[in-house]
Amino acid sequence: MTLDTTHDNRRRTHFSGHDALWLFGYGSLIWKADFPYRERRPAHIHGWVRRFWQGSHDHRGTPEAPGRVATLVRQPGAICHGMAYRIAPEVLAPLDVREKNGYLREIVRLHFDDAENASAEGVVYLAGPDNAAFLGEAPLDAIAAQIAASHGPSGANRDYLLNLAAALNDLGVEDDHVFALANRLDGEAC
Ligand code: BEZ
Repeated sequence: MTLDTTHDNRRRTHFSGHDALWLFGYGSLIWKADFPYRERRPAHIHGWVRRFWQGSHDHRGTPEAPGRVATLVRQPGAICHGMAYRIAPEVLAPLDVREKNGYLREIVRLHFDDAENASAEGVVYLAGPDNAAFLGEAPLDAIAAQIAASHGPSGANRDYLLNLAAALNDLGVEDDHVFALANRLDGEAC
C-alpha cells in the first residue's frame, strides 16, 4: 500500500526561515547519509523505541511483497539512540520524497551523546500506526523471515537490517529488537 506523504511534509514549515536545523536519524539515515550536512553527532531521544513495524513497498520491498523497515513507537521511559545531522532546511525536500511511504516530519527534542545536558529541537521522520503502510507488531521470527525474503528497488531488505545493526554496534548502542532480528539473519544464505 502506498501513501505519499510528500505534500503533507512540505506543509510542515516549523524550521522555515532558519539557517540550519537538526535532523535525527534512527534507521537508514544512520548509515546512509547521502545528503549534505554540516555536522553529525551521536544523539538520543526519550520516550521512543525503534521497531521494524513499517512496511516498505518502495525501497526494500514491492507493493505485492512489502519489506519491513524501522519506525519509532512510543514507549514511556525508553531511549532511542541514533545520529543527529545539522542540515540546511532545503535538504528536507529530497528526504521528503525518499521517505514518502508513510513517514511524516515531527518535532522532537534530541540529546547529544557527546556533551552532558546538551539538547536541541529537531526533526524526525516518523511513520505512525495510522499510516497506510504500517504493518505493526509480529513475532520476531516472522519479522525476520519477511525481511529475509524481501527485495526492492533500493536492494535487499536484509542489507538494510544488517547495515543498521552494524552501525548501531559501531556506535556502541544496544538495541535488543534490532540485534535479535540481525542474529536471525546473519549468516543465513540469501
Ligand atoms: C531514519 O533513519 O531516521 C529514517 C530513515 C528513513 C525513514 C524514516 C526515518
